Amino acid sequence: NSTATSSSNFAPVDEIGGSIEILQIEGEIPKDFPEGSNPLFGALHSTVSVFGESSEIWVEGEGMLHALYFTKTGSASSWSVSYDNRYVQSETLKIEQDRQKPCFLPAIEGDSAAIIVAYILNYLRFGKVNKNITNTNVFEHAGRVYAVAESHQPQEICIQNLETGNTWDIGGEWDRPFTAHPKVAPGSGELVIFGSDAKKPFLVVGVVSDDGTKLKHKVDLKLNRSTLCHDIGVTLKYNIIIDIPLTIDIGRLTTGGQLIEFEKEGYARIGIMPRYGDAESVMWFDVEPFCMFHLINCFEEGDEVVVQGLRSADSVIPGPRLNKQEILPERSELKKDGKAMKQGINEKLFSRLFEWRLNLKTKTVSGEYLTGTECSLEFPMINNHYTGVRHSYGYAQIVDSLTRSASSSEKVLPKYGGFAKLCLEERENTEVHIIDTQKFEGAPVAKITLPQRVPYGFHGTFVHNNIHGHV
Ligand SMILES: [Fe+2]
Repeated sequence: NSTATSSSNFAPVDEIGGSIEILQIEGEIPKDFPEGSNPLFGALHSTVSVFGESSEIWVEGEGMLHALYFTKTGSASSWSVSYDNRYVQSETLKIEQDRQKPCFLPAIEGDSAAIIVAYILNYLRFGKVNKNITNTNVFEHAGRVYAVAESHQPQEICIQNLETGNTWDIGGEWDRPFTAHPKVAPGSGELVIFGSDAKKPFLVVGVVSDDGTKLKHKVDLKLNRSTLCHDIGVTLKYNIIIDIPLTIDIGRLTTGGQLIEFEKEGYARIGIMPRYGDAESVMWFDVEPFCMFHLINCFEEGDEVVVQGLRSADSVIPGPRLNKQEILPERSELKKDGKAMKQGINEKLFSRLFEWRLNLKTKTVSGEYLTGTECSLEFPMINNHYTGVRHSYGYAQIVDSLTRSASSSEKVLPKYGGFAKLCLEERENTEVHIIDTQKFEGAPVAKITLPQRVPYGFHGTFVHNNIHGHV
């Protein structure tokens, strides 16, 4: 059964205890891959992941860093590749390690869907389950690399050995949740951040100096409810705030006919905030309620601000007991010219590329889907040189079945895209593919087989060692 075999890649793996050189490479790593002297290809994965069938829950897993190092050898410009992995050494992980036992129990064996759901809601609303799970993203700012989950401040990572360094609270100025998706503002190089919380202040936006040393701006947007705000946009002049209701149709998340209703909070808004604006200067545009985790990009065009993201009409926060077949059909069904999706509930849950155009002059908003219902897209990215300005290409993972194609695309360079093909069955190897993004349909330029399976996870990044930081 495909579900059972693929679920095996939700299982955690151990630390390998040091970097291993990889010799199993098919094809050739391009001589010009990529610019920079000694880059690292890193991805952060939760050891317990979404859609798993275990009793644990995806948001709970400790963060584990998986890194692929590309090192130029000699003058021949050939590459040596090695792989390493390491848990993010969070304070809570250290406590558990010291005591040699888990102190923070999942306590969620799924007898009661209500408990699971409460847990998910806790995480989304309060930004915390009960651990500092630094398991969501890796980002670089001002030459330093951080691992982060939105419940807690980032933790600095030494990319050479994956050791965890200090918690980054920006000189003591940021004492609250920190988004997993901060954005470097075009032009200034400042880092735009936010923290959303279950208690007031619900949403605080900050601007960090381009050198990472100072919190230049910090403002409470004075929302009167907590919001499901996972991502933030930037343009040349503005910060783009996504204020969407935390609405979960729980009936969809349970099996066995159990239906739990939550009151729907009716409104959704997109806010355009001057970079150093405040609660009063945000221009809010009311939009139809929706669910969205990730923006693709935002940019200014004439009188309009264009906001692109992966939007679904309805929320889906899958829990361990989710009946996957209720959400997405099997791949074989998809091939029947998409009919399966057009029937029933599936289409509502697909996340597709959506574009809003917010007109600053007329104060009106229009929006449309730019992709169809053939497939659901997630984990989007663009070449980040275009963050905040008009881009031409976006890249995303196609989720044609939640369990069968959960491969994870990673950082996109101007010319080459990295792509981690995660194993679908227990004995299958994890491969990293290098793809020439100008010949996207072609075969990968190189296929690198990792020495150990990498479980399904969340986001990754690509950094150049010659600008990296210091723990
Ligand atoms: Fe994310």
